[in-house]
Amino acid sequence: MSFTVAIDGPAAAGKGTISKAVAERFGLAHLDTGLLYRATGARVLDGLKPLAAAETLQADDLKRDDLRTGDVARAASQVAAIPEVRAALVAFQRAFAQRQGGAVLDGRDIGTVICPEAAVKLYVTASDNVRADRRYREMKASGMDVTPESVLADLRERDARDSVRVAAPMKPAEDAVVLDTSLMSIDDAVARAVAIIQAAMG
Ligand code: DC
Repeated sequence: MSFTVAIDGPAAAGKGTISKAVAERFGLAHLDTGLLYRATGARVLDGLKPLAAAETLQADDLKRDDLRTGDVARAASQVAAIPEVRAALVAFQRAFAQRQGGAVLDGRDIGTVICPEAAVKLYVTASDNVRADRRYREMKASGMDVTPESVLADLRERDARDSVRVAAPMKPAEDAVVLDTSLMSIDDAVARAVAIIQAAMG
């Protein structure tokens, strides 16, 4: 049996940073499952139908330069609400989770749907304003033309869609440890996550 860490939560709560750091710390493979939905969304913006876009996704699609734009994030959240699209991406995620040597997967439904048996489940969250501020700085730093207000509005719209959808809505698994990073530095949040994983490893 492989050791799986499931890290879920809303956009810009810090789950990507925490996932990368703990994967490195414990020598686990890491999959950012949001990339699968972003790449599917980007291909839909190119003109493909959602299900075809998900079913024929290739490794190179996950390396596109436009995956972090606001338009692609919105398209990702829209395709992620389609049950058939989610179903098309399940096998790849589960196979990744079962890798020898263990894995960290981050997303919205890892602890609830993809890996309900994960050894550790974290739900990383933060207040809307803190998350929007972090995302605004990130986008600004990479040269994108955004305002704090537009980032907050986009984030709220996306979180609402991700949490009310019928197919695998974003929510903490019953046995997830909730980590609110609103008042934490990145180092503190990573240290908390490391301690929780260490405790689970025994
Ligand atoms: O984590 P992210 O912001 O890159 O994710 C982009 C979108 O993909 C997000 O709005 C919802 C969707 N998503 C999902 O439904 N399930 C996942 N496991 C990961 C992402």
